[in-house]
Amino acid sequence: MQKEVILHFLNLKVTPMKTLEKAKKTLEEKGFLDLDTPNIDYVKEILKLKKEKNAILLAHYYQIDEIQEIADFVGDSLALAQQAAKTDADMIVFAGVHFMAETAKILNPTKKVVLPDLLAGCSLADSCPPKEFSEFKKQHPDHLVVTYINCSAEIKALSDYVCTSSNARKIIDSIPLDQPIIFAPDRNLGAYLNKETGREMLLWDGACIVHEAFSMEKLITLYKEHPDAELIAHPESEAHMLQVAKYIGSTSGLLNHVRTSKKKKFIVATEAGILFQMLQENPDKDIIPAPAKENNTCACSECAYMKMNTLKKLYLCLKYELPNIEVDAELSKKAIIPIERMLELSKYTQILNES
Ligand code: 13P
Ligand code: SF4
Repeated sequence: MQKEVILHFLNLKVTPMKTLEKAKKTLEEKGFLDLDTPNIDYVKEILKLKKEKNAILLAHYYQIDEIQEIADFVGDSLALAQQAAKTDADMIVFAGVHFMAETAKILNPTKKVVLPDLLAGCSLADSCPPKEFSEFKKQHPDHLVVTYINCSAEIKALSDYVCTSSNARKIIDSIPLDQPIIFAPDRNLGAYLNKETGREMLLWDGACIVHEAFSMEKLITLYKEHPDAELIAHPESEAHMLQVAKYIGSTSGLLNHVRTSKKKKFIVATEAGILFQMLQENPDKDIIPAPAKENNTCACSECAYMKMNTLKKLYLCLKYELPNIEVDAELSKKAIIPIERMLELSKYTQILNES
């Protein structure tokens, strides 16, 4: 008698579509193993599997609260890359987006790197297709290429330096003043850095949809209600936001500013996931997300890619070690050069928030 018929007699439900083999077949299309997980205590199981497999869970500040709570390390893009570079874990579980896990894999070619949802991409990375960028680079052969870490391995392989918003200034300042530079892919961060460094870097025309979603009109209304609040912003935000911000910095910079400032009220122009850490560190302070143009329920801007990762997907990728990130060996050898240059120049930038 067939297994399914026996189970039917025993009155146990089976969903033939949800077997592991079938789930593997739809992995690329769905981005994760679509399996049922009845009665699973995800947090308990994730912690258990992490230990059993000697895996490290790295999470970005834009992840959902529940994931940040159980991560071994929560950080900005630079701190996460630094952690990935130094870990002695056998497996890296990256609760972030694809380019972050891909960077971790480039730094650890022999380790397994898993991402809860393979489709967790990045609008900024997508705004810089390798073929077009390669053409652009060819038109400016005398330029060095500095790229923001939010880009694909192919773009990194075409770069001289990688940077994040924590160290971009330092990296650019390390390049002689008379050396022309292409900066990609973020036009907002690039324009901000041009202003800060006095350079005239050639900018690729890419942007992050999350940081271009803020409404100046709604911000003015909000500010009228909270005239004692200070606006702080991530440099991926548009120029008009940065012009009125009192502090501009990476996610860890923003956290540090709120932690050390005497001010009691802040309007924060970046992805709303950061509020979890900010409120935990500053229970006595009033933290308000900057409003988005769209009339959404959170009155904030959220990254749909970052929010694709859930506890269930995290559990599944840890258990079945899928989806895992693979990077072509030749591509990896080229892409690691500008990443290692960045890590070398950022050696003394402190790693924070280890749990
Ligand atoms: P940082 O955390 O490095 O500031 O980057 C923000 C971001 O947009 C990541 O995708
Ligand atoms: Fe990419 Fe913007 Fe999301 Fe960061 S917030 S992952 S830059 S789309």
